Amino acid sequence: MSTDTDTDADTDRESDKSNSHCGASTGDTAGTASDSGSTCGASSSDDSSASNCGASSSDDSSASNCGASSSDDSTEKEVDATVDDFDADPGKLVAVGLGPGHPEGMTERARAALLEADHIVGYTTYIELLPDEVVEGADEIYDTPMCGEVSRTEESVDRALAGNDVAIVGSGDPNVYALGGLALEILESKGATPSLVDFEVVPGVPAAQSCAARLGAPLVNDTVSISLSDHLVPMPEIESRLHAAAKESFTITIYNPWSRKRRENFQKCCEILLTHRDPETPVGIVHAAGREDEEVLITDLGELAGLGENEIIDMTTTIVVGNEETYAWDDRMVTPRGYETKYDY
Ligand SMILES: C[S@@+](CC[C@H](N)C(=O)[O-])C[C@H]1O[C@@H](n2cnc3c(N)ncnc32)[C@H](O)[C@@H]1O
Repeated sequence: MSTDTDTDADTDRESDKSNSHCGASTGDTAGTASDSGSTCGASSSDDSSASNCGASSSDDSSASNCGASSSDDSTEKEVDATVDDFDADPGKLVAVGLGPGHPEGMTERARAALLEADHIVGYTTYIELLPDEVVEGADEIYDTPMCGEVSRTEESVDRALAGNDVAIVGSGDPNVYALGGLALEILESKGATPSLVDFEVVPGVPAAQSCAARLGAPLVNDTVSISLSDHLVPMPEIESRLHAAAKESFTITIYNPWSRKRRENFQKCCEILLTHRDPETPVGIVHAAGREDEEVLITDLGELAGLGENEIIDMTTTIVVGNEETYAWDDRMVTPRGYETKYDY
């Protein structure tokens, strides 16, 4: 079963090559007692998550879909339980951005929100990034491997509807190619009114900013972000966005740049950028910012395509393509803001 078409999650090459095992893990990575149903995310009548969640749901249709194809785990899937299946007063649901990965990169508000939550739900890689005090303080941790964004988010919604205070976690910020919006969409599709569940987004430092910080100051002017993941947006649309961004003088941050199944997307992206930009345009590549395996490289657009097969570029990498004025100053990437046109220095 392929895994990398299933999700936008920031998976590494290792997991990219491995087989997906759809289903919640036991939570042992998080070091806590975990309910960890055997299904992928959504609650079902016979796993332990169902009893914790309180939803009376049918069997887990998402489980068989997890990782199977790019279209399987989509918002088109019908939700299982609706608001009418829950008797409790809903708890609070917070979408928490963890920032780049290391505990110091998390905001104080994010840490507090996680400490306040009864249940924490997330992709296993993100759960592994949580500080010990957060893991130890939670009643339950529900983590799933690289699959099931929709079912995992639905799990968090169901747990909140069942009366628990729930945090769903992700890297960076919940509003950047992440699950903040999906949580609201699922709540709506379950028949909730906007005020039924107390929902909050707790921002985190997005990868673009964490990576820019490692590179110097490449993003101080107008910037566009583009994800090369064709899981939810078809490639022709991504190509047209790349053309539009590259024609203008934006700095471009590229998310989800490479996976085995997206090799061609990466090559196409390099081709499009070179249609509009000089091959000497500085490019910054940051792999796993703020994590143990962080790597940083400043190169240029002419070299970028040749780095596609290099370990530094995978689904835990963000690429920053400079604008016409961006320059490399030794190991620093600098995009002038325009002060030099008004001031002498
Ligand atoms: C699904 S998106 C999630 C983005 C996240 N919500 C954010 O605000 O950064 C996953 C992509 O974010 C980027 N990313 C996430 N964490 C990163 C890190 N620590 N270093 C570099 N890029 C990262 C990669 O491009 C990855 O493919």
